[in-house]
Amino acid sequence: MNKYVHGYSSHESNRLHDQADSLADLLHYDSIWEEDSIILEAGCGIGAQTKIIAPKNLSSKFVSIDISLKSLEQANTNKINNVEFQQADIFELPFEDEYFDHIFLSYLLEHIPNPVDALIRLKKVLKKEGTITVIEGDHGSTYFHPDSDIAKKAIQCQVELQKQNGGDANIGRKLYPLLSQSGFKDIKVSPRQVYVDDSNPDWVEGFTKNTFTAMIKGISKEAISKNLIGKKEIEKGIKHLNRTAEGGGTFCYTFFKGIGTKD
Ligand SMILES: C[S@@+](CC[C@H](N)C(=O)[O-])C[C@H]1O[C@@H](n2cnc3c(N)ncnc32)[C@H](O)[C@@H]1O
Repeated sequence: MNKYVHGYSSHESNRLHDQADSLADLLHYDSIWEEDSIILEAGCGIGAQTKIIAPKNLSSKFVSIDISLKSLEQANTNKINNVEFQQADIFELPFEDEYFDHIFLSYLLEHIPNPVDALIRLKKVLKKEGTITVIEGDHGSTYFHPDSDIAKKAIQCQVELQKQNGGDANIGRKLYPLLSQSGFKDIKVSPRQVYVDDSNPDWVEGFTKNTFTAMIKGISKEAISKNLIGKKEIEKGIKHLNRTAEGGGTFCYTFFKGIGTKD
């Protein structure tokens, strides 16, 4: 288990909820499975996605697992009828082989050093012809106006810290090869681009400020303590990121949603 996993502090919880809420339509307009499915949500965290996908699939049953009891306790406060939250490790899944009709996971593979191993283990508990849906971001897809080298350096600190903890903040672009190496067929990956300007104040607040810039703010102390960047520099980087959420600024980021089928 890696030391750095999103979702443990209240700052991170708020950030994950903001991210999920502001991106709900872009990422989940097609998160619909056939009626009466049994769906495993792996690494549900505080249930930020659960509360969006479960109500869209009311006749289906979700088993939403996470390794963190603390996150699950928070997830449980959402009280969604068709969801059962359970503590479990994706590397030691307590389910029979081929138990689930479908599997869903988001922002989990980016934190583990062995994503193919994780996908292969998940595939075991998936029925034949069942699908796996994976959503990940890719920090390399970030660009904005006004441009700023110091803001890019601050973002790179997050990429570096995640790497030091065995993760990969640029994993979105690798979803196709990862699903393919794990033996899934009929893989389709769709990029979902967030483009934010003044005409969409909800995304300015919900994504640029409260999701992305909040994430970089959240790693400031660790980045400084590991000598990746100076205090003044990262503060300036964050200021420049905030500038993209002020009048006339724009911000772009691409998420990737991959779907594969078990043979
Ligand atoms: C960044 S959070 C994402 C949470 C949620 N999927 C979302 O989109 O908001 C990653 C989650 O994966 C969980 N996790 C990490 N390793 C795990 C493992 N081996 N088994 C189960 N859950 C794990 C963490 O506890 C954390 O809640």
